[in-house]
Amino acid sequence: MTNIQRDKIDIPVTSFEEVILARQLVRELMERLGFSLLAQTRIVTAVSELARNMVVHAKDGRLTATKVTQGARVGVNCIFQDSGPGIEDIDQAMREGYSTTKSLGLGLGGAKKLCGEFNITSSMGKGTKIDITEWVK
Ligand SMILES: Nc1ncnc2c1ncn2[C@@H]1O[C@H](COP(=O)(O)OP(=O)(O)OP(=O)(O)O)[C@@H](O)[C@H]1O
Ligand SMILES: [Mg+2]
Repeated sequence: MTNIQRDKIDIPVTSFEEVILARQLVRELMERLGFSLLAQTRIVTAVSELARNMVVHAKDGRLTATKVTQGARVGVNCIFQDSGPGIEDIDQAMREGYSTTKSLGLGLGGAKKLCGEFNITSSMGKGTKIDITEWVK
């Protein structure tokens, strides 16, 4: 199910076309929320890597991106949830250069550096959930 609203996006991410769509929709949402172009680009780069990981390493990936507020603060929260194999050793997976697919292994560690708040939980055989939040400066 695809659900695209003004302040909330909920889409499947199971193909590279959907990775591109995820990038576009998050950029548009961030623009509406008042993020700088630089912040948009930074977070969209992270979104791209995390969405790509769901396609490459997992299955049934979904992205939910929503406007969040805390007092006067406005931000964006993105949740990447999949039903893939899970990640056995998260610390190892986060390390630069670690990849189980002979790729660069920069995606996860890079994404964490690009986001204000980054949370990852994973359960073997069940899937992985990554939750990121960024606030408008
Ligand atoms: N959603 C996921 N489900 C299961 N395993 C994952 C997931 N995301 C990442 N991983 C595991 O963590 C490793 C590191 O991920 P990372 O994105 O850093 O590197 P990569 O995807 O292998 O290469 P790159 O992103 O640089 O092309 C992956 O090789 C994979 O084993
Ligand atoms: Mg990757």
